[in-house]
Amino acid sequence: MGKMIIAGNWKMNKDLDEAVQLVEKLKKGFKNKNKVEVVICPSFTNLSSVNEIVKDSDIKLGAQNMYTEEKGAYTGEISASMLKSVGCKYVIIGHSERRQYFNESNQFLNNKVKVAIENNLTPIYCVGETLEQREAGKVEKVIKEQVSEGLKDISADDLKKIVIAYEPVWAIGTGKTATPQQANDVHVYIRKLLVSMTSEAVAEQISILYGGSVTPETSNELMGKSDIDGALVGGASLKADSFADIINY
Ligand code: PGA
Repeated sequence: MGKMIIAGNWKMNKDLDEAVQLVEKLKKGFKNKNKVEVVICPSFTNLSSVNEIVKDSDIKLGAQNMYTEEKGAYTGEISASMLKSVGCKYVIIGHSERRQYFNESNQFLNNKVKVAIENNLTPIYCVGETLEQREAGKVEKVIKEQVSEGLKDISADDLKKIVIAYEPVWAIGTGKTATPQQANDVHVYIRKLLVSMTSEAVAEQISILYGGSVTPETSNELMGKSDIDGALVGGASLKADSFADIINY
């Protein structure tokens, strides 16, 4: 396994000035360059300006979403090539908020993942169960559907280019982190699914991040687990100090 990947998902936060200030601080605060690949995902309107600040640094840029089509009459949508043109290397696909509020299905997300790969963007494909599903004992069933349908018909070579984020919906923005053991158990299960879709050698190369109320207090232990290869951080990535503590772990 290569570097840990720690991505900050800013969601719908920060206007342009705030985004610029935050990223300037992060650039100064990021020390752990040999161990960690840092990715920040501001909103679309801030990508270009943030790129000007990070393009010569070790901080990588990602978007929070994209559309499947290359161009045309799709009012309000953003294509993979547009993201590339403002310096994005990563794109979050299938965040639970997209699944929940915008009805994005595994099939639709499968198209997005493929289009991202075709455009040399690294997809951070998100999966995770709701509290209801966990309490009904359906964690593995839900994760299996999200992984097998969302990553369907993708070659082993291309699967290597994907990052997966396990984000239990009940832990997102709630302050309830999955215990490191709970998280790792699901990561091990995801790895097993990936082995069955490809091979052990390929599955080993795919980074699986944990997300859901990650803070500087919880990140160390989470990232010390065998199958946790990094983190996708929401709330704690909005403050330079707390995100710097996480990325310099
Ligand atoms: P959170 O969000 O860290 O605020 O829980 C994580 C995410 O939704 O990616």
